[in-house]
Amino acid sequence: MQTTQIQNPIPLYDIIILGASGFTGKYVVKEALKFLNIPSSPLKTLALAGRSHEKLTKTLQWAAPPPSPDVSIIIADTTDPASLLSLCNQTKLLLNCVGPYRIHGEPVVAACASSGCDYLDITGESEFMEKMGAKYHEKAGETGSLIVSACGFDSIPAEMGVLFNTRQWVSPAVPNHLTAYVSLESDKRIVGNFATYESAVLAVANMDELQELRRSRPRKPTLAIPGPPPPEGPSIEYQEQIGLRAVRLPSADAIVVQRTLVTLMDNPRGLPGIKESPEHTEKREAYWSSVKPAHFGVKIASKSLLGIYRIIGVGIFIGLLSRISFGRWLLLKFPSFFSFGWFRKTGPSEEELRSASFKMWFVGYGFSDSSLASETNSKPDMQIITRVTGPEIGYVTTPISLIQCALIVLSQRKNLPKGGVYTPGIIFGPDLQERLQENRVSFDLVSKTTLRGPTAA
Ligand SMILES: NC(=O)c1ccc[n+]([C@@H]2O[C@H](COP(=O)([O-])OP(=O)(O)OC[C@H]3O[C@@H](n4cnc5c(N)ncnc54)[C@H](OP(=O)(O)O)[C@@H]3O)[C@@H](O)[C@H]2O)c1
Repeated sequence: MQTTQIQNPIPLYDIIILGASGFTGKYVVKEALKFLNIPSSPLKTLALAGRSHEKLTKTLQWAAPPPSPDVSIIIADTTDPASLLSLCNQTKLLLNCVGPYRIHGEPVVAACASSGCDYLDITGESEFMEKMGAKYHEKAGETGSLIVSACGFDSIPAEMGVLFNTRQWVSPAVPNHLTAYVSLESDKRIVGNFATYESAVLAVANMDELQELRRSRPRKPTLAIPGPPPPEGPSIEYQEQIGLRAVRLPSADAIVVQRTLVTLMDNPRGLPGIKESPEHTEKREAYWSSVKPAHFGVKIASKSLLGIYRIIGVGIFIGLLSRISFGRWLLLKFPSFFSFGWFRKTGPSEEELRSASFKMWFVGYGFSDSSLASETNSKPDMQIITRVTGPEIGYVTTPISLIQCALIVLSQRKNLPKGGVYTPGIIFGPDLQERLQENRVSFDLVSKTTLRGPTAA
């Protein structure tokens, strides 16, 4: 076992996984072990960190049956800044799986930003992400700490899906707006672990703080998107082409994608690496020059109207009850009841995980020629549908996404910016899709259609 206070000038580990004993953390460990010490992998040394040596040892035994691989265990607590600094001094990259992030996340980001250690997490909490950007971007830029949140299901499929769809619009065609329809599928029950539900309840409860933070920050620049903004549309939509009903999903995805597109507007060729190779410069510039901005929103979709009513019901429960303390107590005491069985304190079973999968459809509307966008009363005349599909979202796709982002950091560090707080799309865009495709997440072009008359959205 390593002690918490050793200061190492040269990091001992490529990666430390903090919160490795958690429900998600243990699947992240399992995914990381697939890449530990195999010849083609940059991951040669790994450590698990958390509060309990016993739980971490059990995690390792669960993830890798004996003989256990050479993985160290380190004690650290997010309430003990010295233990976090010690972690940062021992690793190149910290993967943070301790949530809810609005409670536990900031000390970890602060330690990384001040020590220059790179940091990735799997949060979907907008307030946390925006606050970290506001407070630590500059410091992280100075120390050379690359800080990237939302490297799980929030928001990798959305980010990579938007980039994939907008790249299908070959000049002179341009996209105008894109909606992602998330459809969760399973032969068994679809279940999430309690911490994700708790994060959502706390996010809604503290919505005012997010609004206040946004008001205190400089206004975001408006994206230069060809054509008028899309119409509002009905609250419950029937999307004919994919045969699904859908309602708006107030996830962090749209905000994260918007931040990626704003960064791209300021850096049209993407963000240069610290000591980038000429081949990578070429690849990066070619990639980003083919991405186009578009309005973007996310909806959760279901085949049945009953499924939609259940989603709306959960939204109403969380929306109303999370604003008052007794309501929050009720929500957190009885997660299964208030989420109609979607969240459980014990999390999903292995069988439930195996049978679950997701499809995320990206339905994009735009113009076959960018000149049409500036005509009076112009309406999109072209539609491109793409799709991202993958295994269960929270504990299979999330670990896959996080580990692939981590492997890019380890193998491509010189091709990435020196430091700062960024979204995953702008950092991993050029390299991530191919890696995800090799790891069970696929990207498909479904259709390209010319629209006529009143069907144009
Ligand atoms: N983006 C996505 O799609 C996605 C998917 C899955 C999860 N998540 C997010 O990931 C987070 C974790 O979820 P989970 O279900 O894995 O939660 P969990 O099972 O409750 O695990 C939490 C982990 O954090 C550790 N921890 C708690 N307090 C700590 C502290 N003060 N110092 C150090 N470690 C501490 C726990 O350690 P102990 O074992 O010692 O208690 C445990 O290892 C949540 O915020 C969730 O929303 C996101």
